[in-house]
Amino acid sequence: MYSKLRLLAAFLSVASLSLSAVQAFDDNAARSKSVYQIVTDRFALTSTTESRTCNTDDKVYCGGTWKGTEEKLDYIRGMGFDTVWISPIVQNINVTNNKLGEAYHGYWTQDINELNSHFGTEADLKSLVDTAHKKGMYIMVDVVVNHVATTQAGNFAADSTYGPFNVTSRDFHSFCWVKDYTNQTQVETCWLGDENVALADVNTEDTSVVSTYNTWIKNLVSTYAFDAIRIDTVKHVRQNFWPDFVSAAGVHAVGEVLDGDPAYIAAYQNKSMNSVFNYPLYYAIDSSFNSTDKSLSEVVSALNANKQQFRDTTLLGNFVSNHDNPRFESHVSDTALRKNAVAVIYGVEGIPYVYYGQEQGYTGGADPANREALWLSGYDEGKDMYTYFTTMNAIRSAAINASSTYNTNQATIIGQDDHNLVIRKDPVISIVTNRGSKAATSSLSITNTGFTSATELTDVISCTAYTTDNKGAFTASIKSGLPAIFLPTSQKGTLCSNITATTGSSNKNSAGFRATTSFALLASLVLPAVAFMAF
Ligand SMILES: *[C@@H]1O[C@H](CO)[C@@H](O)[C@H](O)[C@H]1NC(C)=O
Ligand SMILES: *[C@@H]1O[C@H](CO)[C@@H](O)[C@H](O)[C@H]1NC(C)=O
Ligand SMILES: *[C@@H]1O[C@H](CO)[C@@H](O)[C@H](O)[C@H]1NC(C)=O
Ligand SMILES: *[C@@H]1O[C@H](CO)[C@@H](O)[C@H](O)[C@H]1NC(C)=O
Ligand SMILES: *[C@@H]1O[C@H](CO)[C@@H](O)[C@H](O)[C@H]1NC(C)=O
Ligand SMILES: *[C@@H]1O[C@H](CO)[C@@H](O)[C@H](O)[C@H]1NC(C)=O
Ligand SMILES: *[C@@H]1O[C@H](CO)[C@@H](O)[C@H](O)[C@H]1NC(C)=O
Repeated sequence: MYSKLRLLAAFLSVASLSLSAVQAFDDNAARSKSVYQIVTDRFALTSTTESRTCNTDDKVYCGGTWKGTEEKLDYIRGMGFDTVWISPIVQNINVTNNKLGEAYHGYWTQDINELNSHFGTEADLKSLVDTAHKKGMYIMVDVVVNHVATTQAGNFAADSTYGPFNVTSRDFHSFCWVKDYTNQTQVETCWLGDENVALADVNTEDTSVVSTYNTWIKNLVSTYAFDAIRIDTVKHVRQNFWPDFVSAAGVHAVGEVLDGDPAYIAAYQNKSMNSVFNYPLYYAIDSSFNSTDKSLSEVVSALNANKQQFRDTTLLGNFVSNHDNPRFESHVSDTALRKNAVAVIYGVEGIPYVYYGQEQGYTGGADPANREALWLSGYDEGKDMYTYFTTMNAIRSAAINASSTYNTNQATIIGQDDHNLVIRKDPVISIVTNRGSKAATSSLSITNTGFTSATELTDVISCTAYTTDNKGAFTASIKSGLPAIFLPTSQKGTLCSNITATTGSSNKNSAGFRATTSFALLASLVLPAVAFMAF
């Protein structure tokens, strides 16, 4: 008995050691994550605080805190997200009565060595990360390197209030506005912002600045035990600054390189960081699912261009909304179109990022309207989109559980007409459509599925059962313009519990897939005009 207990104790301490050791995620772990993005000031008030209104037009602090975020982790986890991207945490400039408002969003750094006291204390932030880890969740922190903020534009003089960056001539590029975005030198060395709030461009060529930043990020990540970083305005800093910074951070880094050209942004992933946000796909989705009469070929082109340009598309950060762009829902009201747009980012390879409020049906347009206070929704877990995200994350979890290669499989388009795309990412097949919720029911013949004959499939959106024919094909029914997402019934986990497998998994290949298919070839027969990459 005694020795058994000791063994158990030894096992437990090893288990908890390895638990903390795996917190920082490597590429492989990152691929399985599902990220929920918040603006800390707008996500949750501390529960002991009285509720208050928040007029986004005022652009002022509304009162959200790290404590409030910690208290609402279960709301996030309830949808199946395991990672929370929090907005920047460092002290920002204290401006009031400015045309551009206050620094509630966190992107107006003053001192990188101090915390933004509006969001809480050091203990609060550590407690948020700690509680997240105990729930099996991860925290991604947003960091700004490119600039600090000032209301002084051309007359800016750094002083001790800017912490380590207190020598103007050494720590900053001399003043000039970025005007020509095609001139990369200017993009990297001139300033963003305007005369209300100028973003003083940090001299990231200076060796003491470089070493200050590398030491800072290393300490920041270790002090708070962050699991990943999101890096702001990446293209405004020389590209060869990033590898050492990311390696000093020692965790997964996803960069914001705001550009729709895959060749331009792929260079950053290839050379500098684990991941970048998938702006090419974002623009394609935003335009293709904004209308019921557009072709979906733009989405296909973006996916193919990405495959050619990126060293690893399975690490890209996929999104349909964020804090910088009008919410997708601000210009698309049809729920079916909204759901299909989301189904694309879950259906293709990459890591899904969902912006807070989407699950509550928020419709804010351009910044600042897209930064609504979530407490005004009452955190209603009964909302249709809350349930939809829960389903999408459950599909993802079931697929990851079913297939050890799901995370590294690239998606292939196995069928396409003007308004439907059939996306295969083994073992999942997703049909997305932009025909809209008023569309009549239609049937689509799905071939080149990779499934063996007589495989039982479930469309886990409508909870409809299918069985493949002797060629592994089946005819899918598309209703109300909704996406249809198919998993082998034996692998759908808890989804659609009213459907059960009748034959069990008798296939040798447990995924119900043929061991090998010359897939690229089959796909190119379907879509001769599109160049497919070999796996
Ligand atoms: C910000 O400035 C206002 C006055 O302009 C002052 O009352 C307030 O205490 C300052 N806040 C911080 C955090 O320094
Ligand atoms: C000024 O910056 C240097 C490093 O660049 C730092 O060592 C020093 O502490 C800073 N001074 C203040 C008052 O923050
Ligand atoms: C690019 O911008 C830099 C900095 O503003 C400027 O010196 C240079 O002349 C510009 N180059 C071109 C080709 O316009
Ligand atoms: C990125 O790397 C891949 C190979 O891993 C290469 O095919 C692609 O051309 C590179 N893209 C850029 C923009 O450097
Ligand atoms: C597409 O977006 C525009 C504005 O961006 C909007 O006016 C239009 O209604 C949208 N179409 C649909 C079908 O939502
Ligand atoms: C399973 O239940 C869902 C509702 O949850 C329903 O839409 C669907 O038709 C049901 N499927 C079958 C095969 O009974
Ligand atoms: C994961 O897969 C195993 C079979 O490999 C199955 O028994 C289990 O129920 C699955 N779990 C989930 C959550 O789907």
